[in-house]
Amino acid sequence: PSTGASAAPGLRFTPVQPNTADTLTVPDGYAWDVVIRWGDPLFDPDDEFDPFDQTPEKQQRQFGYNCDFLGFLPLRGRQQLLVSNHEYTSEDMMFDDYDPANPTDEQVQVAWAAHGLSVVVVEPPRGGPAGLQPVVGHELNRRFHNGSPFELTGPAAGSEHLRTTADPEGRTVLGTLNNCAGGLTPWGTWLTAEENFNQYFANANQVSDPVVSGRLARYGMSGGATGRKWEDFDPRFDLAQEPNEANRFGWVVEIDPYDPTSTPKKRTALGRFKHEAAQPRITNDGRVAVYMGDDERFDYFYKFVSSGTYQPGNSAAAKANNAALLDEGTLYVARFTGNSPAEEITGTGDLPSDGAFDGSGEWIALVSGTESFVPGMSAEEVLLFTREAGDAVGATAMDRPEDVVPSPTSGHVYVALTNNSRRGTGSNPGVDEANPRVGNKHGQVLELVETGNDAAADTFSWSLFLVCGDPQDPSTHFAGFDPEQVSPISCPDNLTFDSFGNLWISTDGNALGANDGLFGVAVEGPYRGQVKQFLTVPFGAETCGPWVDDRQVFVNVQHPGETDGSSFANPSSHWPDGGSSVPRPSVAVVWNTEGGRIGQGS
Ligand code: FEO
Ligand code: CA
Ligand code: CA
Ligand code: CA
Repeated sequence: PSTGASAAPGLRFTPVQPNTADTLTVPDGYAWDVVIRWGDPLFDPDDEFDPFDQTPEKQQRQFGYNCDFLGFLPLRGRQQLLVSNHEYTSEDMMFDDYDPANPTDEQVQVAWAAHGLSVVVVEPPRGGPAGLQPVVGHELNRRFHNGSPFELTGPAAGSEHLRTTADPEGRTVLGTLNNCAGGLTPWGTWLTAEENFNQYFANANQVSDPVVSGRLARYGMSGGATGRKWEDFDPRFDLAQEPNEANRFGWVVEIDPYDPTSTPKKRTALGRFKHEAAQPRITNDGRVAVYMGDDERFDYFYKFVSSGTYQPGNSAAAKANNAALLDEGTLYVARFTGNSPAEEITGTGDLPSDGAFDGSGEWIALVSGTESFVPGMSAEEVLLFTREAGDAVGATAMDRPEDVVPSPTSGHVYVALTNNSRRGTGSNPGVDEANPRVGNKHGQVLELVETGNDAAADTFSWSLFLVCGDPQDPSTHFAGFDPEQVSPISCPDNLTFDSFGNLWISTDGNALGANDGLFGVAVEGPYRGQVKQFLTVPFGAETCGPWVDDRQVFVNVQHPGETDGSSFANPSSHWPDGGSSVPRPSVAVVWNTEGGRIGQGS
């Protein structure tokens, strides 16, 4: 693949080759470092990490496990606020004496503390070439974990379906779980998405009410004991005792990291599903749209549009206005319609005769405040059991909608559809033009253009920008770019843009046999579709978070060493500490050793 000037500005680097090295691999002329690792202290240097002596108290004051979403918010001077999700825990990688059949009280409490979110102030190291380091003890540093209070807000707050023994009002939840990706708002808050919360809730099989058990099943809860057995340590994780507790997860959470006393809000107006991400974009009339995927095979893509308008600035009035934006508005689900005859979508990935997987679409309104547009469902039910609303209105079943990002330059919206091994198999839904491959192993990236380029539009056009995989595989498409000049890419997950308007894509679960990585690709101009691999992550890791500024690229390296048979005693990765150490999920930073901008040639 090409190097240097034969690439778009910002992508002029020599691509990294696919590999299975247990390290971060970056292009020639670039270097990397770790910003913060699982277990690094946030409040007191004495909370030093010791994998053989981890305690719940220490973990509540340390950076959590399995960092996923990563964002930065500006502070004065050279400092920034780093915000990160801690999606889940991998107990057999975290504890030297973990018995999955009999976890100890202390291990469960460490896992509770290692979930959640971190806010940490970072600054460039003194005298170092580049990078960032945490400012331990900064007054803005925060850890949210399974014991931290979150407030339910918006139209469904207080619903009877949200009330529990511990919270008869249905308005205060302890903890946030399985926070995957997210987004940053123009008003300086952080959105974080609760994804696969179903895995924490046991004994759905003991729920006798068929309506309740049907709803639980639609959200992936139908079994007995969970893998982590938290239900043995806190009855709220036992659906036979607390059938409503699971309804208190699966929301988009909004946090004001600038106010260390603020209570995060679970925004019920944005619906409840396995939220992957939440990316805002301002509409032409100044309201805020939030794009959101539900990461499940055959689930849906959504948009929320606020009733109120965004008010720029830091006045008290602006802050009060913006803090209420995500509590009132309309929730929509997407229906994608292809423009080629159905018989031309063969399932092989062969393009139809018009040369493109493309078409039109509509946003189907589901609910607005207390008004439901779904026959047979109340507004509250639509917000709480949003998947059932999507089923009822004929939303398009997608190949696992992961992250979404609007281009800050064009406004076009990009959606990662990561893969769907069941597409077109057995009794599962068949292929359609937006999900055109049977047993889709490698995923696709969809480009959505709102009518009038207005985020408030109720119709759109779309096309598949990338149909991923090995470029030598005829089922792959790179927006028409020469397959000899692109990097192989599989299972797109997280997305971000650089200031040149290039899309950056991180992957999870590379089905081509090499480590996951981060890729840059131009979406406009002569290099549109030229995918170039910028880095690979260590063995067993997923690439998350990506954040690209002019001089640095950041990734969250999630679950290094997560492979079959890997464990604390015998891990398949020793990244980043090396030797015989346990792997530590970490934030990593990459920079150009000559001090130049990212992707400006080497
Ligand atoms: Fe947590 Fe859909 O990835
Ligand atoms: Ca077509
Ligand atoms: Ca993800
Ligand atoms: Ca994924």
